[in-house]
Amino acid sequence: MSVLRLSGNFLGLPMRTWAVLLSIFLICVSVYRVFDSLNSQIVILNDSRSKLEKAITQLQLENIQISERQQQELASEKALVAKEGNLEDDIIIVYNRVPKTGSTSLAGVVYDLCLINKFHVIHLNTSKNQRTLSLADQMHFITNITHWEKRKPAIYHGHLAFIDFSRFGLKQPPIYINMVREPLDRLISYYYFVRYGDDFRPHMKRRKAGDNESFDECVARDGEDCAPKNLWVQIPYFCGHHAECWESGNEWALEEAKRNLVHHYLIVGITEELRSFLAILEAVLPRFFHGASALYNQGNKSHLRKTSKKYPPKPETLDKIKDSHIYRMEREFYEYAVEHFHYIKSITLRRNIDGDIFIKERRFLFEKIRPR
Ligand SMILES: *[C@@H]1O[C@H](CO)[C@@H](O)[C@H](O)[C@H]1NC(C)=O
Ligand SMILES: *[C@@H]1O[C@H](CO)[C@@H](O)[C@H](O)[C@H]1NC(C)=O
Ligand SMILES: *[C@@H]1O[C@H](CO)[C@@H](O)[C@H](O)[C@H]1NC(C)=O
Ligand SMILES: *[C@@H]1O[C@H](CO)[C@@H](O)[C@H](O)[C@H]1NC(C)=O
Ligand SMILES: *[C@@H]1O[C@H](CO)[C@@H](O)[C@H](O)[C@H]1NC(C)=O
Repeated sequence: MSVLRLSGNFLGLPMRTWAVLLSIFLICVSVYRVFDSLNSQIVILNDSRSKLEKAITQLQLENIQISERQQQELASEKALVAKEGNLEDDIIIVYNRVPKTGSTSLAGVVYDLCLINKFHVIHLNTSKNQRTLSLADQMHFITNITHWEKRKPAIYHGHLAFIDFSRFGLKQPPIYINMVREPLDRLISYYYFVRYGDDFRPHMKRRKAGDNESFDECVARDGEDCAPKNLWVQIPYFCGHHAECWESGNEWALEEAKRNLVHHYLIVGITEELRSFLAILEAVLPRFFHGASALYNQGNKSHLRKTSKKYPPKPETLDKIKDSHIYRMEREFYEYAVEHFHYIKSITLRRNIDGDIFIKERRFLFEKIRPR
Protein backbone atom coordinates (compact mmCIF):
# COMPACT_ATOMS: atom_id res chain seq x y z
CA MET A 1 0.00 0.00 0.00
CA SER A 2 2.84 2.27 0.85
CA VAL A 3 4.31 1.78 -2.68
CA LEU A 4 1.11 2.98 -4.26
CA ARG A 5 1.34 5.97 -2.19
CA LEU A 6 4.93 6.71 -3.19
CA SER A 7 5.58 10.29 -3.75
CA GLY A 8 8.45 12.64 -4.04
CA ASN A 9 11.43 12.65 -6.44
CA PHE A 10 14.53 10.51 -6.93
CA LEU A 11 17.30 11.69 -9.30
CA GLY A 12 14.85 14.12 -10.76
CA LEU A 13 12.20 11.60 -11.67
CA PRO A 14 9.05 11.07 -9.69
CA MET A 15 9.04 7.85 -7.67
CA ARG A 16 5.96 6.65 -9.57
CA THR A 17 7.89 6.70 -12.79
CA TRP A 18 10.67 4.67 -11.12
CA ALA A 19 8.05 2.15 -10.05
CA VAL A 20 6.72 1.85 -13.60
CA LEU A 21 10.25 1.47 -15.00
CA LEU A 22 11.06 -1.21 -12.44
CA SER A 23 7.93 -3.13 -13.29
CA ILE A 24 8.75 -2.98 -17.02
CA PHE A 25 12.27 -4.19 -16.25
CA LEU A 26 10.99 -7.09 -14.18
CA ILE A 27 8.52 -8.06 -16.89
CA CYS A 28 11.26 -7.95 -19.50
CA VAL A 29 13.51 -10.18 -17.39
CA SER A 30 10.83 -12.81 -16.89
CA VAL A 31 9.77 -12.71 -20.54
CA TYR A 32 13.41 -13.16 -21.51
CA ARG A 33 13.79 -16.11 -19.16
CA VAL A 34 10.69 -17.80 -20.52
CA PHE A 35 11.86 -17.18 -24.04
CA ASP A 36 15.31 -18.47 -23.22
CA SER A 37 14.04 -21.69 -21.69
CA LEU A 38 11.68 -22.14 -24.67
CA ASN A 39 14.57 -21.61 -27.00
CA SER A 40 16.79 -24.14 -25.26
CA GLN A 41 13.91 -26.64 -25.40
CA ILE A 42 13.51 -25.97 -29.09
CA VAL A 43 17.21 -26.61 -29.55
CA ILE A 44 16.89 -29.89 -27.64
CA LEU A 45 13.84 -30.82 -29.69
CA ASN A 46 15.56 -29.85 -32.91
CA ASP A 47 18.51 -31.93 -31.82
CA SER A 48 16.38 -34.97 -31.13
CA ARG A 49 14.56 -34.43 -34.39
CA SER A 50 17.77 -34.44 -36.38
CA LYS A 51 18.95 -37.50 -34.46
CA LEU A 52 15.68 -39.21 -35.29
CA GLU A 53 15.95 -38.20 -38.88
CA LYS A 54 19.46 -39.62 -39.03
CA ALA A 55 18.31 -42.84 -37.44
CA ILE A 56 15.41 -43.14 -39.87
CA THR A 57 17.64 -42.45 -42.85
CA GLN A 58 20.06 -45.09 -41.62
CA LEU A 59 17.23 -47.57 -41.21
CA GLN A 60 15.86 -46.83 -44.66
CA LEU A 61 19.31 -47.19 -46.15
CA GLU A 62 19.74 -50.57 -44.50
CA ASN A 63 16.32 -51.62 -45.72
CA ILE A 64 17.16 -50.64 -49.25
CA GLN A 65 20.46 -52.46 -49.03
CA ILE A 66 18.73 -55.58 -47.73
CA SER A 67 16.06 -55.52 -50.38
CA GLU A 68 18.70 -54.88 -53.03
CA ARG A 69 20.64 -57.87 -51.79
CA GLN A 70 17.45 -59.93 -51.71
CA GLN A 71 16.63 -58.86 -55.21
CA GLN A 72 20.10 -59.72 -56.39
CA GLU A 73 19.86 -63.12 -54.74
CA LEU A 74 16.44 -63.68 -56.25
CA ALA A 75 17.63 -62.58 -59.66
CA SER A 76 20.68 -64.83 -59.62
CA GLU A 77 18.54 -67.74 -58.48
CA LYS A 78 16.06 -67.03 -61.26
CA ALA A 79 18.90 -66.79 -63.78
CA LEU A 80 20.21 -70.14 -62.60
CA VAL A 81 16.80 -71.79 -62.96
CA ALA A 82 16.27 -70.14 -66.32
CA LYS A 83 19.69 -71.32 -67.43
CA GLU A 84 18.84 -74.86 -66.38
CA GLY A 85 15.54 -74.63 -68.23
CA ASN A 86 17.24 -73.23 -71.30
CA LEU A 87 20.07 -75.73 -71.50
CA GLU A 88 18.20 -77.49 -74.28
CA ASP A 89 17.87 -74.17 -76.10
CA ASP A 90 21.60 -74.34 -76.82
CA ILE A 91 21.40 -77.68 -78.58
CA ILE A 92 22.48 -77.90 -82.19
CA ILE A 93 21.64 -81.02 -84.18
CA VAL A 94 23.44 -81.95 -87.36
CA TYR A 95 21.65 -84.37 -89.65
CA ASN A 96 24.11 -85.19 -92.43
CA ARG A 97 21.50 -86.96 -94.53
CA VAL A 98 22.33 -89.61 -97.07
CA PRO A 99 20.43 -89.23 -100.38
CA LYS A 100 17.54 -91.64 -101.02
CA THR A 101 17.25 -92.93 -97.49
CA GLY A 102 13.90 -91.29 -96.79
CA SER A 103 15.63 -88.17 -95.60
CA THR A 104 13.06 -85.91 -97.25
CA SER A 105 10.36 -87.52 -95.10
CA LEU A 106 12.32 -86.85 -91.93
CA ALA A 107 13.22 -83.33 -93.04
CA GLY A 108 9.51 -82.74 -93.78
CA VAL A 109 8.57 -83.73 -90.24
CA VAL A 110 11.29 -81.44 -88.90
CA TYR A 111 10.05 -78.50 -90.97
CA ASP A 112 6.50 -79.03 -89.70
CA LEU A 113 7.69 -79.28 -86.09
CA CYS A 114 9.95 -76.23 -86.09
CA LEU A 115 7.01 -73.82 -85.81
CA ILE A 116 5.28 -75.84 -83.11
CA ASN A 117 8.37 -76.60 -81.00
CA LYS A 118 10.11 -73.31 -81.78
CA PHE A 119 13.49 -74.22 -83.16
CA HIS A 120 15.34 -73.36 -86.35
CA VAL A 121 15.89 -75.61 -89.36
CA ILE A 122 18.68 -74.73 -91.74
CA HIS A 123 19.65 -76.48 -94.95
CA LEU A 124 23.35 -76.70 -95.69
CA ASN A 125 23.79 -76.26 -99.44
CA THR A 126 27.28 -77.29 -100.51
CA SER A 127 28.36 -76.10 -103.93
CA LYS A 128 28.02 -78.75 -106.65
CA ASN A 129 26.58 -81.09 -104.00
CA GLN A 130 30.08 -81.85 -102.73
CA ARG A 131 29.96 -84.17 -99.76
CA THR A 132 33.25 -83.01 -98.26
CA LEU A 133 34.46 -79.54 -97.24
CA SER A 134 37.97 -78.10 -97.14
CA LEU A 135 39.50 -77.90 -93.67
CA ALA A 136 39.05 -74.12 -93.71
CA ASP A 137 35.37 -74.51 -94.63
CA GLN A 138 34.89 -77.11 -91.91
CA MET A 139 36.32 -74.71 -89.34
CA HIS A 140 34.16 -71.88 -90.64
CA PHE A 141 31.02 -74.02 -90.70
CA ILE A 142 31.57 -75.28 -87.17
CA THR A 143 32.44 -71.89 -85.70
CA ASN A 144 29.42 -70.36 -87.33
CA ILE A 145 26.80 -72.88 -86.25
CA THR A 146 28.03 -73.07 -82.66
CA HIS A 147 28.16 -69.28 -82.20
CA TRP A 148 25.06 -68.23 -84.10
CA GLU A 149 23.00 -67.39 -81.00
CA LYS A 150 20.11 -65.98 -82.99
CA ARG A 151 19.62 -69.38 -84.63
CA LYS A 152 19.56 -71.61 -81.57
CA PRO A 153 18.33 -74.22 -80.99
CA ALA A 154 18.71 -75.53 -84.52
CA ILE A 155 18.77 -78.54 -86.79
CA TYR A 156 21.18 -78.36 -89.72
CA HIS A 157 20.64 -80.83 -92.52
CA GLY A 158 22.54 -81.39 -95.72
CA HIS A 159 24.36 -83.94 -97.82
CA LEU A 160 27.67 -83.71 -95.99
CA ALA A 161 30.14 -86.36 -94.84
CA PHE A 162 30.72 -86.76 -91.12
CA ILE A 163 32.97 -84.14 -89.48
CA ASP A 164 34.58 -85.02 -86.16
CA PHE A 165 33.67 -81.92 -84.14
CA SER A 166 35.88 -82.97 -81.23
CA ARG A 167 38.93 -82.01 -83.29
CA PHE A 168 37.89 -78.36 -83.39
CA GLY A 169 38.12 -77.50 -79.69
CA LEU A 170 34.44 -76.84 -79.04
CA LYS A 171 32.90 -76.35 -75.62
CA GLN A 172 29.57 -77.78 -76.65
CA PRO A 173 29.73 -79.90 -79.80
CA PRO A 174 26.58 -80.48 -81.87
CA ILE A 175 24.57 -83.69 -81.72
CA TYR A 176 24.64 -85.97 -84.76
CA ILE A 177 21.68 -87.93 -86.03
CA ASN A 178 21.25 -89.85 -89.27
CA MET A 179 19.38 -92.60 -91.06
CA VAL A 180 20.57 -95.53 -93.19
CA ARG A 181 18.83 -97.79 -95.69
CA GLU A 182 19.43 -101.22 -97.21
CA PRO A 183 22.19 -100.31 -99.71
CA LEU A 184 20.78 -102.00 -102.83
CA ASP A 185 17.30 -100.60 -102.24
CA ARG A 186 18.94 -97.21 -101.86
CA LEU A 187 20.88 -97.55 -105.12
CA ILE A 188 17.84 -98.72 -107.10
CA SER A 189 15.80 -95.86 -105.67
CA TYR A 190 18.55 -93.44 -106.67
CA TYR A 191 18.90 -95.02 -110.11
CA TYR A 192 15.24 -94.42 -110.97
CA PHE A 193 15.07 -91.10 -109.16
CA VAL A 194 17.68 -89.45 -111.41
CA ARG A 195 15.71 -90.73 -114.45
CA TYR A 196 12.10 -90.14 -113.53
CA GLY A 197 12.16 -87.82 -110.51
CA ASP A 198 9.57 -88.16 -107.78
CA ASP A 199 6.17 -86.90 -106.71
CA PHE A 200 7.81 -84.33 -104.41
CA ARG A 201 9.01 -82.10 -107.24
CA PRO A 202 7.45 -83.81 -110.30
CA HIS A 203 8.37 -81.13 -112.82
CA MET A 204 12.02 -80.88 -111.93
CA LYS A 205 14.18 -82.16 -114.80
CA ARG A 206 16.50 -84.85 -113.45
CA ARG A 207 20.06 -85.55 -114.43
CA LYS A 208 19.31 -88.67 -116.48
CA ALA A 209 15.83 -87.75 -117.69
CA GLY A 210 15.00 -89.43 -121.01
CA ASP A 211 17.23 -92.41 -120.29
CA ASN A 212 14.74 -95.30 -120.09
CA GLU A 213 17.17 -98.15 -119.43
CA SER A 214 16.00 -100.31 -116.52
CA PHE A 215 18.25 -101.28 -113.64
CA ASP A 216 18.16 -104.92 -114.84
CA GLU A 217 19.31 -103.92 -118.31
CA CYS A 218 22.04 -101.76 -116.85
CA VAL A 219 23.34 -104.57 -114.65
CA ALA A 220 23.14 -107.08 -117.49
CA ARG A 221 25.46 -104.99 -119.64
CA ASP A 222 27.70 -103.92 -116.71
CA GLY A 223 26.63 -100.28 -117.11
CA GLU A 224 28.32 -97.40 -115.35
CA ASP A 225 25.29 -96.14 -113.33
CA CYS A 226 24.63 -99.49 -111.66
CA ALA A 227 28.24 -100.55 -111.11
CA PRO A 228 28.97 -101.68 -107.52
CA LYS A 229 31.10 -98.61 -106.83
CA ASN A 230 27.83 -96.64 -106.82
CA LEU A 231 26.92 -98.58 -103.68
CA TRP A 232 29.83 -96.98 -101.80
CA VAL A 233 27.78 -94.21 -100.21
CA GLN A 234 26.75 -94.84 -96.61
CA ILE A 235 30.20 -95.96 -95.49
CA PRO A 236 31.92 -92.75 -96.71
CA TYR A 237 29.14 -90.56 -95.27
CA PHE A 238 29.77 -92.04 -91.82
CA CYS A 239 33.51 -92.43 -92.26
CA GLY A 240 34.00 -88.74 -92.97
CA HIS A 241 36.61 -86.47 -94.42
CA HIS A 242 39.65 -88.79 -94.61
CA ALA A 243 40.97 -89.79 -98.02
CA GLU A 244 40.48 -93.51 -97.32
CA CYS A 245 36.76 -92.95 -96.75
CA TRP A 246 36.21 -92.24 -100.44
CA GLU A 247 38.17 -95.23 -101.76
CA SER A 248 35.56 -97.83 -102.74
CA GLY A 249 36.14 -101.04 -100.81
CA ASN A 250 38.58 -99.62 -98.25
CA GLU A 251 38.44 -101.81 -95.12
CA TRP A 252 39.63 -99.07 -92.74
CA ALA A 253 36.76 -96.86 -93.98
CA LEU A 254 34.22 -99.51 -93.01
CA GLU A 255 35.68 -99.83 -89.51
CA GLU A 256 35.87 -96.04 -89.12
CA ALA A 257 32.24 -95.69 -90.22
CA LYS A 258 31.18 -98.22 -87.57
CA ARG A 259 33.23 -96.47 -84.89
CA ASN A 260 31.78 -93.07 -85.74
CA LEU A 261 28.25 -94.46 -85.75
CA VAL A 262 28.69 -95.73 -82.20
CA HIS A 263 30.84 -92.97 -80.73
CA HIS A 264 29.63 -89.81 -82.43
CA TYR A 265 25.99 -90.30 -83.34
CA LEU A 266 23.29 -89.96 -80.74
CA ILE A 267 20.88 -92.05 -82.83
CA VAL A 268 21.02 -93.54 -86.30
CA GLY A 269 17.63 -94.68 -87.54
CA ILE A 270 16.82 -97.00 -90.39
CA THR A 271 14.56 -96.04 -93.28
CA GLU A 272 12.63 -99.30 -93.01
CA GLU A 273 11.51 -98.35 -89.47
CA LEU A 274 10.98 -94.62 -89.72
CA ARG A 275 8.03 -94.71 -87.34
CA SER A 276 10.11 -96.21 -84.51
CA PHE A 277 12.93 -93.84 -85.29
CA LEU A 278 10.63 -90.84 -84.85
CA ALA A 279 9.33 -92.28 -81.58
CA ILE A 280 12.89 -92.64 -80.27
CA LEU A 281 13.78 -89.11 -81.38
CA GLU A 282 10.70 -87.90 -79.55
CA ALA A 283 11.77 -89.71 -76.38
CA VAL A 284 15.40 -88.59 -76.47
CA LEU A 285 15.11 -85.06 -77.94
CA PRO A 286 11.63 -83.84 -76.94
CA ARG A 287 12.71 -80.18 -77.24
CA PHE A 288 12.74 -80.77 -80.99
CA PHE A 289 10.68 -83.87 -81.73
CA HIS A 290 7.76 -83.61 -79.34
CA GLY A 291 4.70 -84.55 -81.41
CA ALA A 292 6.71 -86.12 -84.26
CA SER A 293 5.00 -89.51 -84.07
CA ALA A 294 1.53 -87.99 -83.98
CA LEU A 295 2.36 -85.84 -86.97
CA TYR A 296 3.71 -88.80 -88.90
CA ASN A 297 0.81 -91.06 -87.95
CA GLN A 298 -1.65 -88.52 -89.31
CA GLY A 299 -0.28 -89.80 -92.58
CA ASN A 300 0.24 -86.39 -94.07
CA LYS A 301 1.26 -87.22 -97.61
CA SER A 302 3.52 -84.18 -97.76
CA HIS A 303 6.11 -86.14 -95.80
CA LEU A 304 6.18 -89.05 -98.17
CA ARG A 305 8.22 -88.99 -101.26
CA LYS A 306 7.99 -91.72 -103.85
CA THR A 307 10.20 -92.16 -106.86
CA SER A 308 7.80 -91.95 -109.78
CA LYS A 309 8.80 -95.12 -111.61
CA LYS A 310 10.51 -98.07 -110.07
CA TYR A 311 10.77 -101.63 -111.35
CA PRO A 312 11.62 -104.39 -108.89
CA PRO A 313 14.92 -106.02 -109.91
CA LYS A 314 15.06 -109.55 -111.35
CA PRO A 315 16.61 -112.33 -109.21
CA GLU A 316 19.66 -112.62 -111.52
CA THR A 317 20.27 -108.87 -111.09
CA LEU A 318 20.16 -109.27 -107.32
CA ASP A 319 22.53 -112.25 -107.44
CA LYS A 320 25.03 -110.35 -109.53
CA ILE A 321 25.01 -107.28 -107.26
CA LYS A 322 25.09 -109.28 -104.03
CA ASP A 323 28.20 -111.06 -105.28
CA SER A 324 30.17 -107.84 -105.31
CA HIS A 325 32.68 -107.03 -102.59
CA ILE A 326 31.46 -103.47 -102.20
CA TYR A 327 27.86 -104.57 -101.73
CA ARG A 328 28.92 -106.97 -98.99
CA MET A 329 30.82 -104.23 -97.16
CA GLU A 330 27.97 -101.71 -97.40
CA ARG A 331 25.58 -104.44 -96.32
CA GLU A 332 27.79 -105.22 -93.32
CA PHE A 333 27.71 -101.57 -92.30
CA TYR A 334 23.93 -101.45 -92.75
CA GLU A 335 23.42 -104.58 -90.65
CA TYR A 336 25.68 -103.13 -87.95
CA ALA A 337 23.50 -100.01 -87.89
CA VAL A 338 20.31 -102.10 -87.76
CA GLU A 339 21.61 -104.14 -84.82
CA HIS A 340 22.56 -100.98 -82.97
CA PHE A 341 19.21 -99.35 -83.74
CA HIS A 342 17.23 -102.40 -82.61
CA TYR A 343 19.04 -102.45 -79.30
CA ILE A 344 18.30 -98.76 -78.66
CA LYS A 345 14.72 -99.33 -79.71
CA SER A 346 14.33 -102.23 -77.28
CA ILE A 347 15.48 -100.15 -74.31
CA THR A 348 13.57 -96.99 -75.29
CA LEU A 349 10.19 -98.11 -76.61
CA ARG A 350 7.55 -100.66 -75.72
CA ARG A 351 4.51 -101.89 -77.62
CA ASN A 352 1.05 -102.70 -76.32
CA ILE A 353 -0.93 -105.70 -77.61
CA ASP A 354 -2.34 -103.60 -80.45
CA GLY A 355 1.17 -102.89 -81.63
CA ASP A 356 1.07 -99.19 -80.70
CA ILE A 357 4.44 -97.76 -79.78
CA PHE A 358 5.03 -96.10 -76.41
CA ILE A 359 8.03 -94.48 -74.81
CA LYS A 360 9.16 -96.41 -71.73
CA GLU A 361 8.77 -94.53 -68.46
CA ARG A 362 11.79 -92.97 -66.78
CA ARG A 363 13.59 -95.39 -64.51
CA PHE A 364 15.62 -93.07 -62.28
CA LEU A 365 15.06 -90.27 -59.77
CA PHE A 366 17.18 -88.03 -57.59
CA GLU A 367 17.14 -88.26 -53.79
CA LYS A 368 19.19 -87.57 -50.63
CA ILE A 369 20.17 -84.18 -52.02
CA ARG A 370 22.60 -82.54 -49.52
CA PRO A 371 23.15 -79.89 -48.28
CA ARG A 372 19.48 -78.91 -48.38
C1 LIG B 1 17.91 -27.28 -36.15
O1 LIG B 1 19.15 -27.92 -36.40
C2 LIG B 1 19.63 -27.76 -37.74
C3 LIG B 1 20.93 -28.53 -37.83
O2 LIG B 1 20.90 -29.64 -37.04
C4 LIG B 1 19.85 -26.30 -38.06
O3 LIG B 1 20.27 -26.15 -39.42
C5 LIG B 1 18.53 -25.53 -37.84
O4 LIG B 1 18.76 -24.16 -38.02
C6 LIG B 1 18.03 -25.77 -36.40
N1 LIG B 1 16.75 -25.13 -36.26
C7 LIG B 1 16.45 -24.40 -35.20
C8 LIG B 1 15.10 -23.81 -35.17
O5 LIG B 1 17.28 -24.26 -34.31
C1 LIG C 1 21.96 -74.78 -103.69
O1 LIG C 1 22.37 -73.51 -104.15
C2 LIG C 1 22.44 -73.41 -105.57
C3 LIG C 1 23.03 -72.06 -105.91
O2 LIG C 1 22.43 -71.03 -105.19
C4 LIG C 1 21.03 -73.61 -106.14
O3 LIG C 1 21.06 -73.53 -107.56
C5 LIG C 1 20.51 -74.99 -105.73
O4 LIG C 1 19.17 -75.16 -106.14
C6 LIG C 1 20.58 -75.13 -104.22
N1 LIG C 1 20.24 -76.51 -103.86
C7 LIG C 1 19.16 -76.83 -103.14
C8 LIG C 1 18.98 -78.29 -102.87
O5 LIG C 1 18.38 -76.00 -102.73
C1 LIG D 1 26.78 -67.51 -89.67
O1 LIG D 1 26.50 -67.36 -91.04
C2 LIG D 1 25.35 -66.57 -91.34
C3 LIG D 1 25.10 -66.62 -92.82
O2 LIG D 1 26.27 -66.39 -93.54
C4 LIG D 1 25.56 -65.16 -90.82
O3 LIG D 1 24.42 -64.39 -91.07
C5 LIG D 1 25.83 -65.24 -89.33
O4 LIG D 1 26.10 -63.97 -88.81
C6 LIG D 1 27.01 -66.15 -89.04
N1 LIG D 1 27.12 -66.28 -87.59
C7 LIG D 1 28.29 -66.32 -86.96
C8 LIG D 1 28.23 -66.41 -85.47
O5 LIG D 1 29.36 -66.32 -87.55
C1 LIG E 1 13.69 -97.15 -124.44
O1 LIG E 1 13.50 -96.30 -125.56
C2 LIG E 1 13.96 -96.83 -126.79
C3 LIG E 1 13.73 -95.79 -127.87
O2 LIG E 1 13.95 -94.52 -127.39
C4 LIG E 1 13.19 -98.13 -127.12
O3 LIG E 1 13.68 -98.68 -128.29
C5 LIG E 1 13.32 -99.12 -125.97
O4 LIG E 1 12.52 -100.22 -126.16
C6 LIG E 1 12.91 -98.46 -124.64
N1 LIG E 1 13.15 -99.39 -123.57
C7 LIG E 1 12.30 -99.60 -122.58
C8 LIG E 1 12.72 -100.58 -121.51
O5 LIG E 1 11.22 -99.03 -122.51
C1 LIG F 1 -0.13 -81.57 -94.24
O1 LIG F 1 1.00 -80.80 -94.67
C2 LIG F 1 0.67 -79.65 -95.39
C3 LIG F 1 1.93 -78.99 -95.88
O2 LIG F 1 2.94 -79.02 -94.92
C4 LIG F 1 -0.16 -78.72 -94.51
O3 LIG F 1 -0.54 -77.56 -95.22
C5 LIG F 1 -1.41 -79.47 -94.01
O4 LIG F 1 -2.09 -78.64 -93.11
C6 LIG F 1 -1.00 -80.76 -93.31
N1 LIG F 1 -2.19 -81.52 -92.94
C7 LIG F 1 -2.36 -82.01 -91.72
C8 LIG F 1 -3.60 -82.80 -91.49
O5 LIG F 1 -1.56 -81.84 -90.83
